[in-house]
Amino acid sequence: MRKFIMPFVALATLSCFGATVSSPDGRIRVEVDVDAQGQPFYSLDFKGKTLVEKSRLGLSSDETRFTDGFVIASVDSTQVDRSWQPVWGEYADVRDHFKELGVTLNAQNPDRELTLRFRVFNDGVGFRYELPVQKTKNHLTLRDELTEFNFTDNHKLYCIPGDYDTDEFLWSETTFSDLPQALASYSGHTESQRSQGTDIQTPMLLKTADPVYVNIHEAALVGYPAMLLNVDTEANDMKVRLVPDRLGVSAYLQMPFNTPWRTLIVSDDARDILASQLIMNLNEPCKIEDTSWIKPMKFVGVWWEMFTGHLKSWAYSTDRLAVPGVTDYTKIEPNGHHPANTENVKKYIDFASKHGIDGVLVEGWNEGWEDWQSYRKNRQFLFDKPYPDFDVDELREYAKSKGVKLIMHHETAANAADYELQLDRAFRFMKDNNYDAVKTGYVGAIIPRSEHHTSQWMVDHVLHVAQIAADYKIMVDSHEAPRPTGLCRTYPNWLAQESARGGEFESMGGNPPSHTAMLPFTRLKGGPMDYTPGLFETRMSYYGEGKDSQAGTTIARQLALYLTMPSPMQMVCDLPENYERFPDAFQFIKDVPVDWKDSKYLEAEPNRYITVARLDKNSDDWYVGAITDEYERTATIDFSFLPQGVKYTATIYEDAPKANWKTNPQAYRIRTVKVDSKTKLKQRLAPGGGAAIRLVRM
Ligand code: NOJ
Ligand code: CA
Repeated sequence: MRKFIMPFVALATLSCFGATVSSPDGRIRVEVDVDAQGQPFYSLDFKGKTLVEKSRLGLSSDETRFTDGFVIASVDSTQVDRSWQPVWGEYADVRDHFKELGVTLNAQNPDRELTLRFRVFNDGVGFRYELPVQKTKNHLTLRDELTEFNFTDNHKLYCIPGDYDTDEFLWSETTFSDLPQALASYSGHTESQRSQGTDIQTPMLLKTADPVYVNIHEAALVGYPAMLLNVDTEANDMKVRLVPDRLGVSAYLQMPFNTPWRTLIVSDDARDILASQLIMNLNEPCKIEDTSWIKPMKFVGVWWEMFTGHLKSWAYSTDRLAVPGVTDYTKIEPNGHHPANTENVKKYIDFASKHGIDGVLVEGWNEGWEDWQSYRKNRQFLFDKPYPDFDVDELREYAKSKGVKLIMHHETAANAADYELQLDRAFRFMKDNNYDAVKTGYVGAIIPRSEHHTSQWMVDHVLHVAQIAADYKIMVDSHEAPRPTGLCRTYPNWLAQESARGGEFESMGGNPPSHTAMLPFTRLKGGPMDYTPGLFETRMSYYGEGKDSQAGTTIARQLALYLTMPSPMQMVCDLPENYERFPDAFQFIKDVPVDWKDSKYLEAEPNRYITVARLDKNSDDWYVGAITDEYERTATIDFSFLPQGVKYTATIYEDAPKANWKTNPQAYRIRTVKVDSKTKLKQRLAPGGGAAIRLVRM
């Protein structure tokens, strides 16, 4: 008997006090403990005030409970201050500075062990569950994660609805109590499954009355489903809901296993949320040894004409199924409106070459689009079978002679299972034809049918694609993939993802200006977005229909997006002829870099405005981008980030006095002023507008 009593007393004492850890600057404090039932919980204070009150932790599975009956077995702590140099990004140097607390719990009957690991940074917290090898039962069929984020008041929430398959929504600015109303305003998505009730997605943003800003998301999502938040709109609480497969299982795990980090980026200054590298810091260092082949780039594409010209199609022919039994495309009548043809692609190569744009994306070059259009259940694309009017050899040589890289497109129509089978052949075909980058896509309901876009199987799939791509020295831009969680640090060939409502929606009724004042606070915290900025013709034919679509932007704002929506794979989205109409404004897009030595967020408020300055990675040039929402605004640009005593010529691309996203979107002005570190510039932004500035040392 005694044998058991002694350690029990020692452990009970420990658990009475729980364990605490603070950020290096002491502003954030986390307490971890177990309650009388042995249920683990944590709480979080910011500047001495409770931000997250007692919130449960735990995992529940078919095999073993990791929910209660625990005592604290041991506590470990450490402090780390180091820095790392990303291959590309907003900063050449990133500081990774935190205090860490590990709380190891164990329980009897059933026998089990679990470590809760917290890292507390000056700008927030990350924590995860570490499941070591157990004495018995090392497989888990995970049903639920019990993690809670219990807030203290009816705070403001910036969010989009919980959905297992899509994140292409506009943002709601609401509160806990008004959330049901906000969610009711979203209409269903035909191929996706909305989770029930008041679920929202991460990354999401919360703002208290003080104000304190909190971004909630996750880091290093590997081998686990994406997380949603189920909101208790009366108690102001949130609980993790893991995206299940269609059998209702969240994850199949084998121990040892570490869950992704649950992250809270916290500050009383909105600019800190934008500047935070917390999610990147919680990811593993780069696993690619030689990264010299990873090259940030700008690209144009045989793309926008399909969205805006309702006669243009990705498919080469009329519906293949209309001609039963035919598999040879050369025997099928071309539909006569297929832009991915040799001659048209050459025009884009010429345009890119003339203007110093690195790449040309071509969509609709390969067999399979007819199947998709007819919604065949076993839809299949062939990733090494070009259409007869797309001459791979000729284009390879032509692009080479013009110093332009072609970018391949792999639309899978969500047949991810088939894509995995073709992957090696597809990547070999790319390398044989001098393609170094691929844009992937998963439009539609996932095959295997048991899965969702953000369930565990698809999380594994997209990482697998990025890893195999790295073996082939291929860069990846994935669309319709699970929302990024900073894995681009570990696999920097994963340059960009869509995973939110992108610029393509300008051709489907438009994105309101506030949309791009929201994405940097939320979606972008996980990694760069292929948003596709650079729209100059703001009125266009509505996608697939005859009517018009009005974009939520001015031209000057589109230039600013290259700064406010940073990405190492940045599209120059409009048609060449639209750039040729505005050559002086286009000059900014030609000049603007896509990789940075340093970044300074000068002004920021979610859903309202952002002003940011960035220093080019490869020169002394600074750039400034400022955007506003639907309302006119005067940005104050304080140039004190410039080195003292050095004069710069600032070329300002701004909204003309009467510019307005709705009534006069194409009115811009270009002027030149001299600035130095003492200058404070009042810069007017039109309703829905923006400004972009290039600063060159005199
Ligand atoms: C949706 C993607 O977001 C878009 O960029 C692409 O052109 C289409 N799917 C077709 O693959
Ligand atoms: Ca998309």
